[in-house]
Amino acid sequence: MSERFYISTPIYYVNDVPHIGHTYTTIAADTMARYQRMCGKDTYFLTGTDEHGQKIEQAAQKRGMSPLQLADEVVQRYHKLWSLIGITNNDFIRTTEPRHKKIVQQVFQKLQAAGDIYAGDYEGWYCTPCEAFWTESQLGEGGLCPDCGRPTARMKEPTYFFRMSKYQDQLLAHIEANPNFIMPESRKNEIVSFIKEGLRDLSVSRTSFSWGVEVPNDPKHVIYVWIDALTNYISALGYDARIEPAGYVDDSLFKKYWPADFHLVGKDIVRFHTVYWPTMLMALGLPLPKHVFAHGWWTVEGQKMSKSLGNVVNPFQMIDTFGVDVVRYFLLREVTFGLDGDFSYKALIHRTNGDLANDLGNLVTRSLGMIGRYFDGIVPPADFCEQADEDIQALIIHTANEYHKYFAELAFNKVLASVWALVSALNKYIDEMQPWALAKDESKRNRLGMVLYTVADGLRAISNFIAPFMPDSAKKLRAQLGMSTEIAFADAVELANVNELKAGSKLGEVVALFPRLDEKEIMAKIQAEAAPVADKAAKDEKPQIAFDDFAKVNLVAGFVEDAERVPKSDKLLKLTVNDGKAKRIIVSGIAATYAPEDLKGKTLAFVENLKPVKLMGIQSNGMVLSATDAAGKHNLLFLPDGVPAGTIIK
Ligand code: MSP
Repeated sequence: MSERFYISTPIYYVNDVPHIGHTYTTIAADTMARYQRMCGKDTYFLTGTDEHGQKIEQAAQKRGMSPLQLADEVVQRYHKLWSLIGITNNDFIRTTEPRHKKIVQQVFQKLQAAGDIYAGDYEGWYCTPCEAFWTESQLGEGGLCPDCGRPTARMKEPTYFFRMSKYQDQLLAHIEANPNFIMPESRKNEIVSFIKEGLRDLSVSRTSFSWGVEVPNDPKHVIYVWIDALTNYISALGYDARIEPAGYVDDSLFKKYWPADFHLVGKDIVRFHTVYWPTMLMALGLPLPKHVFAHGWWTVEGQKMSKSLGNVVNPFQMIDTFGVDVVRYFLLREVTFGLDGDFSYKALIHRTNGDLANDLGNLVTRSLGMIGRYFDGIVPPADFCEQADEDIQALIIHTANEYHKYFAELAFNKVLASVWALVSALNKYIDEMQPWALAKDESKRNRLGMVLYTVADGLRAISNFIAPFMPDSAKKLRAQLGMSTEIAFADAVELANVNELKAGSKLGEVVALFPRLDEKEIMAKIQAEAAPVADKAAKDEKPQIAFDDFAKVNLVAGFVEDAERVPKSDKLLKLTVNDGKAKRIIVSGIAATYAPEDLKGKTLAFVENLKPVKLMGIQSNGMVLSATDAAGKHNLLFLPDGVPAGTIIK
């Protein structure tokens, strides 16, 4: 029977919609799962959503819905995104499902039966957004939460405790005996020092809110959200399944796949996965996951991603603009998995144009184009091998070896860098062999065939190498090479083989794999799409103001005497507005919605005392008001005809 492989992502909170951080982990896990399947392993890949807890209860309240309604809505966004990206998870677990809740309760009861849970009182400083209690000494400056920097509150409540302290030595011994349990090394060191400071017992129930799994036989308490959440990794497999009819009736998946090979997590949740979770498993008498790998965080153009800054990268928009494979490639190529990275659309455009369109894309079109031109699209025989060809073959074998080595370390960027070293070598090989020159000399036809065969066989290898990262592009490349588009186990075995492409076979249609992107055009599209989102974020975050603050703004009725387009601008209109006392020029970015004649003779609401600014060289004195929708369509605030210019609006 083939070897097993089990990989998981964190389960994502449903108080917010998916962003690039969630997308990143899930793409990494998917790439690893695809790689393992390609290598013939019986692979299980789990993701899902974390739907309980105070944060979700509060988010739902704010939106006037029940927590489950909110979860039902947000979970759809996750399903949609993962299907768009081609995520190959075997299951999707929601912590509100009966099959999960029952097992969480069973786990709790087992821990109780083992004497590892006891009742007591908990007193500490509580951070609601982080759902974490802190001791006095752990608090940051000014009593702030050491994780998120927000204020904490003193809280005392009855709680059940898990005897985590009991497992301190066993956990340290495990980490020592299994140096790759926590990856990368830097995270391991952090956790080891944390444990050595002394593990305290963990408060594992709450009475201050109710949105969670009830403690069996004590329904005033709900089970602490992290105990609930971490259990997903085994509940999805039917651990200890005794549930009928609402879930699994057998635990064969658990028997087959546990312990997990990799839990992929972000650096902020390492402690939960490498201290809480393993000690729980020890108490349950279960084996620990083989590896917990913590990746870094993405900032956006040097800044922390946050709703208030309006810079949260929306994966749907990214995919719409760049396509799935480009996004998958970029996220895993740009930064070392395990370190923080900075996201920018410019970097994404440069990688697409450089690595994908220029390097790989051109290699494909020019080499296969020549097989079309000189050999009617039939793969030539490989009969006249020289040193340069052997060097390429050796490089393919070398790349395959590096490929497996780096995948084992989850060093995705190194895997890709080594594949792209092969891409560059093939481009250089073509430049040096000059097949276009060989083609002019009939006596060199065999040599020409060998050169083009060597490149095409290199592309065959590349189509396998890129398959876990860019599944669609791999298929397209294989179709162009005239190969089956399905990646099978045999292809993984062939990773280190050369001369596998069948001479005499017919190429498919040659098309560009990655079109070049026009930076200006793309940046304009992104900015136009981002503006309404930033507006919304800005609105959500603004504090209340006193009437005096509002009164500082002069809102006035203005009569539009004239309107014209601003030359060389698609966006701007120049309006001549009568403000009741004089005429003034106002430049406004509304040309995509309104033509000048729509506005002439109309009365509009405008801000009269805004500092002048220059737009395309024209000074604008004020701003007309518009309710601009999410698609960027403007709706100006027209006033009824006859309202005198200069009338104050308040
Ligand atoms: N529900 C918990 C996990 C429970 S697992 C048993 C949770 N959810 S989360 O939705 O807040 O975060 C999920 C993951 O997204 C975390 O691994 C976190 O590190 C990751 N990211 C959130 N923002 C991120 C970036 N800016 N960059 C990269 N990953 C980030 O925590």
